[in-house]
Amino acid sequence: MSTHGTTPLIIDCDPGLDDAIALMVALNSSRFAVLGITAVAGNVPLRLTEYNARRLRTLLGRADVPVYAGCPRPLLQTLVTAEEIHGATGLDGAELPEPDGEAASRHAVSFLVDTLSTAPEPVTLACTAPLTNLAVALIQRPEIAAGIREVVIMGGGINRGNITPVAEFNFYADPHAARVVFESGLPITLVPLDVTHQVLVTEDVIARIRAIGNPVSHAAADLLSYYGSTRRPALAGAPLHDPCVIAYLLQRDLFGGFPADVRIETESALTIGQSVVNRRRLPDDRPAVTVLDMVDPVGVFELILAHLGPAGT
Ligand code: BDR
Ligand code: CA
Repeated sequence: MSTHGTTPLIIDCDPGLDDAIALMVALNSSRFAVLGITAVAGNVPLRLTEYNARRLRTLLGRADVPVYAGCPRPLLQTLVTAEEIHGATGLDGAELPEPDGEAASRHAVSFLVDTLSTAPEPVTLACTAPLTNLAVALIQRPEIAAGIREVVIMGGGINRGNITPVAEFNFYADPHAARVVFESGLPITLVPLDVTHQVLVTEDVIARIRAIGNPVSHAAADLLSYYGSTRRPALAGAPLHDPCVIAYLLQRDLFGGFPADVRIETESALTIGQSVVNRRRLPDDRPAVTVLDMVDPVGVFELILAHLGPAGT
């Protein structure tokens, strides 16, 4: 399915306002061969994340990209959602088209297992949601690791959180899945809150996106206006988490990071979902995680703007 010079990519997501911008950039880029979008319960229930992925695919004119519905709940925890950030639909703020096609009949986990077992070249995974789908696929068939080039994950923080003082939403929502993924030995790059809280959406950015003047940029501006309206007042703008994963895959020199041992807390009621980042002692039984902590936010926004225009690159 991949074509020459492109990166075969699967996007595992829970759209979600910031997931939506990530999908817009990825689906508008000729650098990716997007093999599929897998949806999971997260920001809103699975019924809506899967539906939202199809609405976005339709908006972007990418009916060729299949959408797979995945796990409707975390491995062990009760589902937590984030309507207070993303609205009741998960994509409040914009008028989006009705989907022009159904979801694929295969379960997202089966799609991951089948695709990663048979891919002619290793596939990159962009994960912007609770990690339930990937964890279940790895539990079912650990050998799929051989079909994965790298996993870039938005989640966690370098000893900081957003939903609790120490836990970030995606890892808090399914800490056991995150632990399975981080203990898998896969080559992981982590895009934590420390990066995404430097990439703040301002009114100026929204105005520039709107001024591009096409249906995708209008929808992006409307979604980001809503996203800005639900942010914590203490922040100068809304942190644009998930698009940083796609920006990293498109232009790595916008980011900097360090190798670390990353473990996910699953036991303590007080700190469940915390990503404990240890840069002083690296793991000896698996590869270190690349933890990003530096970003050029201006460069990230220029990249996003370039991919919402008429000819994304
Ligand atoms: C993450 O949580 C979700 O609400 C966002 O879509 C992002 O993936 C940020 O903590
Ligand atoms: Ca997300």
